[in-house]
Amino acid sequence: MQVSLIILAAGLGSRMNSDLPKVLHSLAGVPMLHHALNTARALEPSRIVVVTGYGSTQVTKAAQDFDAFTECVLQDPQLGTGHAVAQAAPLLSDAEGDAIVLYGDTPFVRPETLQAMLAARSRHAVVVLGFEPRDPARYGRLITQGSDLLRITEYKDATEAERAIPLCNSGVICADSKTLFRLVANLTTNNAQGEYYLTDIVELARAEGLTTGYVTCDESETLGINTRAQLAAAEAQFQSRARTDALENGVTLTAPDTVFFALDTHIGRDATIGPHVIFGPAVTIESGAEIKGFCHLEGCHISRGASVGPFARLRPGAELAEDVHVGNFVEIKNAVLDEGVKVGHLTYLGDAHIGEFTNIGAGTVTCNYDGVMKHHTEIGKNAFIGSNTMLIAPVTVGDNALTASGSVITDNVPPDALAIGRARQVNKPGLATKFMDRLRAIKAAKGPK
Ligand code: UD1
Ligand code: CA
Repeated sequence: MQVSLIILAAGLGSRMNSDLPKVLHSLAGVPMLHHALNTARALEPSRIVVVTGYGSTQVTKAAQDFDAFTECVLQDPQLGTGHAVAQAAPLLSDAEGDAIVLYGDTPFVRPETLQAMLAARSRHAVVVLGFEPRDPARYGRLITQGSDLLRITEYKDATEAERAIPLCNSGVICADSKTLFRLVANLTTNNAQGEYYLTDIVELARAEGLTTGYVTCDESETLGINTRAQLAAAEAQFQSRARTDALENGVTLTAPDTVFFALDTHIGRDATIGPHVIFGPAVTIESGAEIKGFCHLEGCHISRGASVGPFARLRPGAELAEDVHVGNFVEIKNAVLDEGVKVGHLTYLGDAHIGEFTNIGAGTVTCNYDGVMKHHTEIGKNAFIGSNTMLIAPVTVGDNALTASGSVITDNVPPDALAIGRARQVNKPGLATKFMDRLRAIKAAKGPK
């Protein structure tokens, strides 16, 4: 069956006390909104529509950065959750099947839970996701009778007896998409907040003689983020689960509590991750690779048998083939290192391709930036780049070539050649002692301080 997802993300999020729209605050290395999009995508939906409002341009960009397939619609002004859903109606007017409403600030709803809601649709026209929080606070309450949901009462509109109900509204709701849009079109603002409440579609559905029900999930899934403290708590919850998942998937973490994952970190079985390793977005580590302590990785791919660190930084576009060794204080950006390349220490490789089994000496720098443009460095296979070589890009070093330590390489080096690009050394006999004696004499003439 086809399914469409509608993600509400128009709110300002005033309690974040920020100029940045709430759903763009970072959670597990990516904008918070990407978590809801990731859950949505797991259902293989035919459409995903994000309802934007505050910071619409930035939110739209973030949604499309996640997946160009995502559509966005502007809600202006923001007149409530029901009004937000109604904005998606023109885009989804011909959508078949069900629609599910998610919130951009509720990142941890599991795809399995949404599948359970879709399954419950065989019994109910409208299905709502409920949960029992330890602190029910100001959530809307589900008024139920057996497996039927009679209506949802917002906290501000609820009686004392209704406020005592432990079952709360997560905000996630599912219905046939044509039914959903017909119902939201009939909402009114006759309530304590003068808003179009999405929650009121339950009563509207029942008035049409439709059945309405609910499924429940754990509170950890419906954690909504309204404040920076809740954002920090959500980050901790994400990291805790990611560490457990990694260990269960056969990854060795020598100090799990010090390793930080991103939403899309992929690590193969029998990889080893040392202490204090931070994964930014888009990192893939194949089975058996080793990341030693204190590394920072982002947008990179590390193949089997490779070892990285300690204290290495891999930036977007770093691609390490099998058995590559990257040691301490090495930074790699937008560079492909073929099989068996060794970069032991104190090196920057940017905008480069290094052929297989080449050795890069300590202190090597690809001088890739002239202040305006970036340039490429091409190094062949089985080459040996001497320590402290400056490679002034664009430049090519051929297969089996060698550069002398301390060289500044400004011209291409042919295959098999030795390139020496440094001043010749001159020794002056006795001059060191003479020089020092003169300095001491000058100091003595000045007298004691
Ligand atoms: C909503 C629910 C409440 C539920 C709670 C769970 C309604 C009327 N109430 O309340 O029952 O317990 O969520 O967190 O639905 N949004 C828009 N446009 C708007 C208004 C909101 O896009 O005009 C978005 C917000 O950005 C946010 C989500 O909808 O992502 C929820 O809005 P919020 O104002 O937080 O709803 P609550 O009052 O918390
Ligand atoms: Ca909220």
